[in-house]
Amino acid sequence: MAVKEIIEALKQETLEDVGVNQNLAQIVKDIKMIGDTLTIVMELPKDGLEDIIRAKTIDVLSNLPDVGKVDIKFSKSGSTQIPLKQAPQGRQAPQHPPQMQQPMFTRKKIPGVKHIIAVGSGKGGVGKSTVAANLAVALSKLGYRVGLLDADVYGPSVPTLFGLKGERITVDQFQRLIPIEKYNMKILSIGFMLPSEDTPVIWRGPMLMKALTEFLFSTKWGNLDFLITDLPPGTGDVQITLAQNVDLTGALVVTTPQDVALADVKKAVSMFKEVNIPVLGVIENMAYFICPSDKQKYYIFGKGKVAEFANTYGLKILGSIPIDPEVAEKSDRGEPIVISHPDSEVAKAFTSIAKVLSNVVSGK
Ligand SMILES: Nc1ncnc2c1ncn2[C@@H]1O[C@H](COP(=O)(O)OP(=O)(O)O)[C@@H](O)[C@H]1O
Ligand SMILES: [Mg+2]
Repeated sequence: MAVKEIIEALKQETLEDVGVNQNLAQIVKDIKMIGDTLTIVMELPKDGLEDIIRAKTIDVLSNLPDVGKVDIKFSKSGSTQIPLKQAPQGRQAPQHPPQMQQPMFTRKKIPGVKHIIAVGSGKGGVGKSTVAANLAVALSKLGYRVGLLDADVYGPSVPTLFGLKGERITVDQFQRLIPIEKYNMKILSIGFMLPSEDTPVIWRGPMLMKALTEFLFSTKWGNLDFLITDLPPGTGDVQITLAQNVDLTGALVVTTPQDVALADVKKAVSMFKEVNIPVLGVIENMAYFICPSDKQKYYIFGKGKVAEFANTYGLKILGSIPIDPEVAEKSDRGEPIVISHPDSEVAKAFTSIAKVLSNVVSGK
């Protein structure tokens, strides 16, 4: 593949969506084959755009024939030095002391992905992963192209929910992560990267941030209508990292009608508001139990509390999901209930929520 053709292809991809009035070819400072690796030096038009520019460039290159390994380097805007050569040895005074640099974040879209939806909750155990997984399946069954990202670094449950325990991630020639395909969806979990199930993931700050950003921007998602992201419970690093780096369509919050769950979900809603992520709605899980013998609904954890909470915060309830022992049993066997029992009340609730969600995001 000739460099000229590569430049031609890069010209077709603009950076307007991240606020830069240039195309990829215009920021190329140097491009050459070194060994079997295509090395491209690009001028970074704005801080914080490395991931998205890398993702866009690899996207363009992956559509060209015979492109081998690719190494993308960045030089700062305005610098004349092309860092292809070895950096000079020895100590150098930093141009700006680190504490003087203002952190700048740019929320970026993933190329090809229309809607990134985060599923959060205040408390663990309210069914957040169950909701994320079944909602993703329900959207896929409605004909949408769907990806599911398990960003619960502290307790990934997507491998169990989809019968994918022991699966390992592979990468393509561009070092992009290849998601696992199941039920017509692209699935990626931090669980696919751990050496064993019992490995504790005690990641904090920068490492977590790097892993997550890599997950999102270095994965071969292809074209998706929805990328559903299962967050860890609470209001920690993962939520903040996503809020700073990713252009989310919005968040869904999952709660049960229990007072303890409601108290915590209020904190989650406040956090999303603080970081300017729109809360698209509330999903009430374990709302009631339908007794098999008399078919009556029993509101075990109380009735109306989630509606009251949603009202107070000006939020929409996207749907209520009943308690069904089949959910837990089938989940443990790796079959989401929307697949195993499509006619159950629970599955119907998920399908209805999927439809409501697609209406809520249309036009966004
Ligand atoms: N609607 C439901 N009916 C019955 N069991 C449920 C329901 N939703 C979730 N569960 C079960 O509750 C437990 C916690 O759910 P999970 O999705 O792992 O919660 P979280 O991700 O919030 O920690 C699991 O065993 C799950 O199968
Ligand atoms: Mg979970």
